[in-house]
Amino acid sequence: MQPIFRSTTPIVHGWGTFDRIEDQLPDGDCFLVVGRRSAERLKLAETIGEKVKGDLIVFKGVEPNPSTATVDRGAESLRKSSADYVLAVGGGSVLDAAKIMAVAAAHGGSAVDYLIGGKVVPGSGYPVIAVPTTPGTSSEITPFSVISVPEKRNKVGLRTPEIYPSLAVIDPALTSMLPPYQTAATGLDILSHAVESYWSARSTPITRPLALKAVSLIRKHLPTAFKDGGSRTSREGVSLASIFAGLSFSNAGTTVCHGISYPVTYDTGLTHGLACSMSLGPTFDRLAERGAEGLEGLASSFGSTVDSFSGDLSSFMRDLSAPTTLKEVGFSSGPGRILGTDLEANKANMSVAFTDEDLEKIITSIL
Ligand SMILES: [Fe+2]
Repeated sequence: MQPIFRSTTPIVHGWGTFDRIEDQLPDGDCFLVVGRRSAERLKLAETIGEKVKGDLIVFKGVEPNPSTATVDRGAESLRKSSADYVLAVGGGSVLDAAKIMAVAAAHGGSAVDYLIGGKVVPGSGYPVIAVPTTPGTSSEITPFSVISVPEKRNKVGLRTPEIYPSLAVIDPALTSMLPPYQTAATGLDILSHAVESYWSARSTPITRPLALKAVSLIRKHLPTAFKDGGSRTSREGVSLASIFAGLSFSNAGTTVCHGISYPVTYDTGLTHGLACSMSLGPTFDRLAERGAEGLEGLASSFGSTVDSFSGDLSSFMRDLSAPTTLKEVGFSSGPGRILGTDLEANKANMSVAFTDEDLEKIITSIL
């Protein structure tokens, strides 16, 4: 079957677009979903309250790596409310949670039903306007939502076109207050999306150039955004990288590096982007050993060669104070804990299908 490239969510992008959010808000009552930090930083309830055209209902306090319980609470409030649409303002966690709340509130069922219970999302839910305050997950333009599921002791993803946000308002100015740690973590998540979608089995001639553009933008702009958060040029560069990577990986998917990251984040609380990027270099080297094609182009977009890519990436990560080993982050369970999770889809999505032996080598090299 021929692959289909989807780019369903309309995007409004540019410095200062959030200040004019009222231009994008429909008539009717608004269900605002926010995390604690961005709610306080941007004084969201007050700012949005003045701009919505109907009533404002606020659901506050979505935590990082949100749980199914939080999603269920939000869906229940949304269902009982008078809201006509959802406005999600926050990082990837807030956006991911809001996307499932919108379908669960419209169609019934709990987050667990959709994430692991096999319940199919029967159609779109409440319209979701997504405003990212961090550039990492690209959740504002993807059909993915990743939620922590205690029953699985892991983070679990839902992928369905029904959860594409109805509009993304992407304002790089919102990211200019991000502290260096979060700047590095979200930037490395973008890099992981770009790199993994490039070597994905589902990559296409449309997704690969998008991925390479994202890699070169991150290589160029992330170090400056990390050192000088107020640099508008670097924040805009990283924001564009997030869009390009999002369009690529929402079609081509991610691979084993994301799969490896989930139990690491679940057990140690390590921020998502840092957990994903740790295994990019070793996976690149393993692909080179296995004779994968196209690695020269990927290495070159990072200013490297096939031989120097993983070493250059390690230096790049160290300059961002990012961990490169599992020991540094207190993950001591060994490869068995990771190999015991469901990595079949991640392995199958490698351009050269990976075995458990490939994965064990990668995990062992970052212990
Ligand atoms: Fe990610």
